[in-house]
Amino acid sequence: MEESGSHRHIVLVTLALVVVLLAPCAAAYPLLACGSTGEFTANSTYQANLGILAAALPKNASSSPDLFATGAVGAVPDQVSALALCRGDANATACSGCLAAAFHDAQNMCAYAKDAAIYYDPCVLYYSNTPFLSSVDNVRSRTQMNGQNVTSDPGRFNRQVAALVDATADYAAYNSTRRYASGEADLDVDSEFPRVYSWAQCTPDLTPAQCRGCLAGIIKGMPRSADRVGAKFLGVRCSYRYEIYTILRGPVMVRLAAPAPEPAVGPTVPTPATLARRGKWGNKTVVVLAITLPLVVAILAITAVCLCYSRKGRTRRASSEQPPCIFG
Ligand SMILES: *[C@@H]1O[C@H](CO)[C@@H](O)[C@H](O)[C@H]1NC(C)=O
Ligand SMILES: *[C@@H]1O[C@H](CO)[C@@H](O)[C@H](O)[C@H]1NC(C)=O
Ligand SMILES: *[C@@H]1O[C@H](CO)[C@@H](O)[C@H](O)[C@H]1NC(C)=O
Ligand SMILES: *[C@@H]1O[C@H](CO)[C@@H](O)[C@H](O)[C@H]1NC(C)=O
Ligand SMILES: *[C@@H]1O[C@H](CO)[C@@H](O)[C@H](O)[C@H]1NC(C)=O
Repeated sequence: MEESGSHRHIVLVTLALVVVLLAPCAAAYPLLACGSTGEFTANSTYQANLGILAAALPKNASSSPDLFATGAVGAVPDQVSALALCRGDANATACSGCLAAAFHDAQNMCAYAKDAAIYYDPCVLYYSNTPFLSSVDNVRSRTQMNGQNVTSDPGRFNRQVAALVDATADYAAYNSTRRYASGEADLDVDSEFPRVYSWAQCTPDLTPAQCRGCLAGIIKGMPRSADRVGAKFLGVRCSYRYEIYTILRGPVMVRLAAPAPEPAVGPTVPTPATLARRGKWGNKTVVVLAITLPLVVAILAITAVCLCYSRKGRTRRASSEQPPCIFG
């Protein structure tokens, strides 16, 4: 009796722990950028002004056709400016719920910071004592990578992602009053990841050129996500994301077909026949090259492998901070 009672307790405590641990994951934990432009105190005018924005902006943004609202409350030095934006494919309910949570969570997680940006999947909120509303600077940016890597033909994957993100950014800037676009690109059906999804968005108060310029600024960071199966580049003025699973709730606006297969490249040594067909070299050169080139390649390869093995051996014995072997 007693024993089954304590078992029940253990089960309950374990269940409670699992719920507590999983809850933030289920709610998609936000990305946060707490600013360093000062702190306010409890019950201050600054806090009261922030409270006025928190009460108004979730409703103002979710009821606007662009799902976007800004506001500035109070007089300097207690003036708070805020920007609230929902993803272009969010509905009004999800939008206001997300922004209400954003005001609440930002004030908890960046406690008493006058300046904070918080990024959720369906919305972004930024407030500050800096009068930033007239600026198009993409401040408080955050980047997050999907931990998984493409292992088979990553170059082809990276190029298709770059093409998709560019096309999605163009559509968001030039073809959408919400400054939002969703995209989907195919790779080969038998490739490791046959499809990629994306979205890109700016605050709708940016002109098409400002929006495209803002997106170009974060697209420049793309080499950092090379080979990754997904990444988010987020800022208060513009953001984009791509993943190999669907991240879109609305219709797809940009579609790219799989790129044409590339001509075979690589370290294939031309045969004497192909060299002769090109007709640029005499027959003697062709024969000499045909014999020496494979030899040189083989010697280089053997040297590389030997170097790598000896370096790996050293690495195992000594520090692990040795540069990785690029051939092995
Ligand atoms: C702020 O106001 C609340 C409610 O009026 C009060 O309970 C609290 O003690 C105040 N805190 C400070 C630091 O004044
Ligand atoms: C919210 O929208 C209403 C109606 O457009 C406007 O009067 C109010 O000033 C807005 N609130 C803020 C904090 O900007
Ligand atoms: C709004 O979006 C949320 C989240 O995507 C969804 O769960 C909900 O059913 C949608 N509500 C309406 C009225 O479409
Ligand atoms: C993916 O690649 C990056 C960079 O090369 C590396 O740091 C990371 O550990 C890799 N992740 C996995 C899961 O292999
Ligand atoms: C986007 O806009 C450009 C220029 O305004 C136009 O030429 C193009 O056809 C549009 N693309 C789509 C997919 O609507």
